[in-house]
Amino acid sequence: FVNQIVDEEVSPAQVAACPLTKIEGLAQVESPAIVRGPELFGARRNSAGLDLTDLGDLARIAGRDVPPVELPTSDVEAALAGVKPWHAPGRGEVLRRAADLYEANLGPILALLAREGGKTLPDAVGELREAVDFLRYYADGAGGRARGVFACISPWNFPLAIFTGQIAAALAMGNGVIAKPAPQTPLIAKLAVDLLHQAGVPEDALWFIPGGPAVGAALVGDARLDGVVFTGSTATARKIQATMAATGNPCAPLIAETGGLNAMIVDSTALPEQAVRDILASAFQSAGQRCSALRCLYVQEDVAETIEHMLLGAMRELQLGDPWALSTDIGPVIDAPAKAKIDAHVAKAKAEGRLLFQLAAPEGLFVGPAVIRVKGIAEMAEEIFGPVLHIARYKSGDLAKVVAAINATGYGLTMGLHSRIDDRVQSVVETAHVGNLYVNRNQIGAVVGSQPFGGEGLSGTGPKAGGPLYAARFCQGGATLPPG
Ligand code: NAD
Ligand code: ALA
Repeated sequence: FVNQIVDEEVSPAQVAACPLTKIEGLAQVESPAIVRGPELFGARRNSAGLDLTDLGDLARIAGRDVPPVELPTSDVEAALAGVKPWHAPGRGEVLRRAADLYEANLGPILALLAREGGKTLPDAVGELREAVDFLRYYADGAGGRARGVFACISPWNFPLAIFTGQIAAALAMGNGVIAKPAPQTPLIAKLAVDLLHQAGVPEDALWFIPGGPAVGAALVGDARLDGVVFTGSTATARKIQATMAATGNPCAPLIAETGGLNAMIVDSTALPEQAVRDILASAFQSAGQRCSALRCLYVQEDVAETIEHMLLGAMRELQLGDPWALSTDIGPVIDAPAKAKIDAHVAKAKAEGRLLFQLAAPEGLFVGPAVIRVKGIAEMAEEIFGPVLHIARYKSGDLAKVVAAINATGYGLTMGLHSRIDDRVQSVVETAHVGNLYVNRNQIGAVVGSQPFGGEGLSGTGPKAGGPLYAARFCQGGATLPPG
């Protein structure tokens, strides 16, 4: 159905005939796609003059009210009553077939990732590849004794890869799945579910319920679930844990992958060009909308002037704009509330005289990459989910204090380190409390299989996604694990 929308002209009668019950949540979406409009992608209007690439028009065609309403929680009840574990053999083959179908649908998938999620083309390609990698990786480990039924709750910033990874791990181990995507990105999730069903995942083993926090809360509050896998903010994880604890099944596992206050340390032995390239990618790629993104850079004071000068120079060359254009480095942020929160943070820093630089941004949902001076990471109260880098300087000899300050935030997702001194690298590796530590490279874009991804402390429960222990968490012990 989504393929049709992307690829072809579809008449209102055809759209009305489509089985829309499972995408009713579209109607509740105040989507960036509506805000960005056809100027980015070109309108595809049907005979009634409605734009078939616009979620608002799609909702109108489907006869839904605009502005939309929350999906009724009765759909949650239907999913819980209908979902079944998937014990049949051959699940790995089905997931591999799904990976092939994802690849075969490259065009529509990339278009939707850009159109609905605001992803630049390189980001969209990387995300599709990660989703396919998850399918094949968990397919290789299919087995185990299923727990039963998992709720899979995912964020908008990886609307295909994380959505798919959670589902693939749960299904590989024979569980039934009720998947709830983020309300900002239901179309790409719907396409993924269509392809999984087309590959052979039984309809009753994979239910799709779009909706927002109310739908999510109703779902995780039901004692019929045997587990919840959640990726999103630390604040939402707290709520989900409290909700689950209050049900009649308080010991059901929660696998939570959450936010971070991620740092990078650059010492005086770092190669400046390499460090600056990796700072740019870590802080500003994907408009800073990665959980792994760099938020606080510590530069040894001996090289700070040089690094900052080069960084600001490189930032001036970044191109903001249409995510579908090849020359674009940074696309829009996800929606108006996200932009307002980031803008307010930068405005406060400016008023306090701490804003070092901000690149001008076009009209719309764009935020110019910004650099803010801080004394240390302790000044940062929370994750600002956008292209905003905080910079602190540290004195030679204070490396251990810097690591201690980073650890003291309680978050522990990613860290970057640029240093050419082996002992120094080793000391950070041994003392930093983070899930993924990257040395002399950027700190985003973990690769399924070779770089399992996940945090500790406030950043997640583990086990790491895309690693050999992840799928085992979806089993009643005795999982079959992929080799290595
Ligand atoms: P969010 O926490 O607002 O929402 C995530 C999902 O939870 C959405 O589907 C949402 O509808 C649902 N939800 C919200 N309230 C709920 C409730 N009370 N009960 C059940 N479900 C509920 O996060 P977001 O804004 O979509 O995503 C950005 C956040 O995700 C950032 O904090 C980022 O760091 C984090 N993230 C973490 C990872 C990781 O692997 N550690 C990866 C990507 C994103
Ligand atoms: N896995 C994603 C990354 O590493 C979040 O950037």
